[in-house]
Amino acid sequence: MTLTRLTALVVIVSLLFLCGTIDTEARHPHRHHRSPKNTISAPPTGAPLYSPPTAASNASSNSTNSMPPSSSPGAPIPTPAPTSANSYLLFDVLAYGAVGNGVSDDTEAFKTAWDSACQEMNPSMISVPKGYSFLIKSTIFVGPCQNIMIFQVDGTIVAPSEPDLWPVNSRRNWLIFYKADGLTIRGGGLIDGRGEKWWELPCKPHKAKNGSASHGPCDSPVALRFFSSSNVTVDGLKVQDSPQFHFRFDQCRYVTVSSLQIRSPALSPNTDGIHVEGSENVLIHNSVISNGDDCVSIGAGSLNIHIENVTCGPGHGISIGSLGKQNSRACVANVTVRNAVIRHSDNGVRIKTWQGGSGSVSAVTFDNIHMDTVRNPIIIDQYYCLSKSCQNQTSNLFVSGVSYRNIKGTYDVRSPPVHFGCSDSVPCTNITVSEVELLPATGQIISDPFCWNVYGMAQTMTIPPLLCLQEGLPRSIMDIDSNKCY
Ligand SMILES: *[C@@H]1O[C@H](CO)[C@@H](O)[C@H](O)[C@H]1NC(C)=O
Ligand SMILES: *[C@@H]1O[C@H](CO)[C@@H](O)[C@H](O)[C@H]1NC(C)=O
Ligand SMILES: *[C@@H]1O[C@H](CO)[C@@H](O)[C@H](O)[C@H]1NC(C)=O
Ligand SMILES: *[C@@H]1O[C@H](CO)[C@@H](O)[C@H](O)[C@H]1NC(C)=O
Ligand SMILES: *[C@@H]1O[C@H](CO)[C@@H](O)[C@H](O)[C@H]1NC(C)=O
Ligand SMILES: *[C@@H]1O[C@H](CO)[C@@H](O)[C@H](O)[C@H]1NC(C)=O
Ligand SMILES: *[C@@H]1O[C@H](CO)[C@@H](O)[C@H](O)[C@H]1NC(C)=O
Ligand SMILES: *[C@@H]1O[C@H](CO)[C@@H](O)[C@H](O)[C@H]1NC(C)=O
Repeated sequence: MTLTRLTALVVIVSLLFLCGTIDTEARHPHRHHRSPKNTISAPPTGAPLYSPPTAASNASSNSTNSMPPSSSPGAPIPTPAPTSANSYLLFDVLAYGAVGNGVSDDTEAFKTAWDSACQEMNPSMISVPKGYSFLIKSTIFVGPCQNIMIFQVDGTIVAPSEPDLWPVNSRRNWLIFYKADGLTIRGGGLIDGRGEKWWELPCKPHKAKNGSASHGPCDSPVALRFFSSSNVTVDGLKVQDSPQFHFRFDQCRYVTVSSLQIRSPALSPNTDGIHVEGSENVLIHNSVISNGDDCVSIGAGSLNIHIENVTCGPGHGISIGSLGKQNSRACVANVTVRNAVIRHSDNGVRIKTWQGGSGSVSAVTFDNIHMDTVRNPIIIDQYYCLSKSCQNQTSNLFVSGVSYRNIKGTYDVRSPPVHFGCSDSVPCTNITVSEVELLPATGQIISDPFCWNVYGMAQTMTIPPLLCLQEGLPRSIMDIDSNKCY
């Protein structure tokens, strides 16, 4: 067991080292403290046995088990919903010494509760009770666990509010779940990243009012971060004011995210709602996200991503990318965004790639999306560049098979409602558009969409008219095809 733990820690440390300077960093995972008791056979005294309510039974309505295990009928992705025959052993963080006054450091209590629950052979439930506020510092919760687990958050979990209180070399993540296979995090509680002081750091881009944001370390923690985890469900939480991204999934499979409310101010920098990277079979549905950056962003290596019934804004919309930075290769395929509302947003649905990358984006569907005062409702930008001084290069990702259907609403007239800026060297192909009707929120219609090197077809009349899509395929298609990932 100790050896396994040790191996796990070594893996994490190497993982965090290897994951690149932007994404992760080296950090010192705390050693896992064992509960003085043998928690495998003896959960803390007084911990009640919990049977999850089934559709037919109703346990007490205000206890930790008031919410039934999440399940989404008709959803394409299986959720690890426990059967009603299982009973859950309850691990209440209060029983592990958590104080919950918002001031005491409850990190060790949470970690011990996690470790105990994780070693339990039966399904287990960690309870974060209502009416308390738990201060938790940067922490890794390590799996895999012996059985499925529910992290039931009905109370509040807060981060330290002062950036200065974070260890200098451990400022990129707050709550990490590693190999948390079969984990469900749910409840009506609040996870509060208290990011305000991070957003105000002088190094942040929006501080560069005169073009001179100060240099120096600018790392800010992601609130909830999942690495290498399968069968993860996140349901019903409120998450607010993350210093950086609110959720980030890396190398995860079979993830279901539902009924979330994510909220941070429109001017908070880099506070993406949910970022998915290197992950497969991810369903994000029935959630409301308002923040200062992308609502949902989809990074390299994402496959089979389904986003449905999501309301975004203010923010920067739903993005695939940015991809291909520093000549990297990226593959994204089979992404569907359906039944979304995007309001007061810089972008609607966006694909963004840097010059010089390789790989492909394919089989993307944007269907039934309502835009309300969005600056770039439909945009492909293959010249993505933050510094405005990027060189044009001869390679790029190959974007093909993108369908825009039933996209209606209003745009902010500062830019054209449709912008297809495809690469000079690698045109976009098979871009299909139907039932697009975009009108100015106020002011004059911009009747000219921006089109550059884009092939495809408008299958219906559209507003604005999309006569600029080139028919057929570019002559260079054979060369481009070699870029395709799948
Ligand atoms: C459960 O709910 C049903 C319908 O809401 C009610 O008739 C029944 O009395 C409840 N049972 C218990 C044990 O509370
Ligand atoms: C739960 O319900 C009981 C009885 O209805 C009530 O006394 C108690 O205050 C409630 N607890 C919470 C946390 O709402
Ligand atoms: C994930 O869930 C599926 C279906 O319930 C199961 O077959 C698989 O073993 C699970 N994988 C992991 C890593 O827990
Ligand atoms: C630009 O802002 C920086 C930091 O706020 C400040 O130190 C500098 O004096 C400013 N420069 C100008 C030209 O205003
Ligand atoms: C695309 O992804 C969905 C899940 O979002 C999955 O159900 C479907 O099978 C995938 N399609 C292909 C062709 O792999
Ligand atoms: C989206 O919302 C509709 C209407 O409320 C509902 O019928 C459908 O099941 C939802 N889809 C998902 C994936 O939750
Ligand atoms: C890159 O190419 C695009 C399209 O040809 C052009 O509009 C843009 O000005 C070029 N940028 C640079 C930096 O050369
Ligand atoms: C064009 O893209 C659609 C998906 O948007 C795909 O179903 C179709 O097979 C593609 N057509 C070709 C010729 O690649």
